[in-house]
Amino acid sequence: MVLPKKRIAKLGIALATVILLHSIIGAQEGASRTVWDGVYSEEQARRGKEKYAQICSKCHASDLSGMDEAPALTGGAFLANWSGLSIGDLSERVRISMPPNNKGKLTRQEIADVLSHVLSVNGFPSGKAELDPRNEVQRQIRIEAAKPKTN
Ligand code: HEC
Repeated sequence: MVLPKKRIAKLGIALATVILLHSIIGAQEGASRTVWDGVYSEEQARRGKEKYAQICSKCHASDLSGMDEAPALTGGAFLANWSGLSIGDLSERVRISMPPNNKGKLTRQEIADVLSHVLSVNGFPSGKAELDPRNEVQRQIRIEAAKPKTN
């Protein structure tokens, strides 16, 4: 009985293809989440505000408006820099370069908290769930300066 086995193999390949396509489409759907979708919690932003005050505010100012060499982390220029990129990109930027005199000082969790504060100050809404510290999850959240239109 050679034929049925072949058919089963073909069916298996077809099924695997469908599953693969599904996961690709699923990932793309995930990527359509933006900072407008309530991607951090208020409690997390409060924690992040404390961390920010301890570590970042001496250069970027307590209201995130920036000082001297340190650019603002809020407002038009900041959002123009990051619009179209992901929270994962921003998180990596902080992880590998901030604070400049003590890189790698913050854990991924602390960075997620600080970024929640940054999102909050930039006027993006909070939600029920916390911002996940994992980079692969943060890569699915796009920074959009303007609120995307919902049809
Ligand atoms: C000692 C001063 C100093 C401290 C402390 C500091 N930064 Fe910075 N930051 C800078 C400077 C200077 C730049 C611009 C030059 C560069 O990129 O290194 C910068 C750039 C950045 C950028 C890139 C902004 C953009 O639009 O490109 C981000 C994001 C950032 N800092 C976040 C943070 C966060 C979050 C913290 C606290 C964990 C922090 N920084 C602490 C000085 C500082």
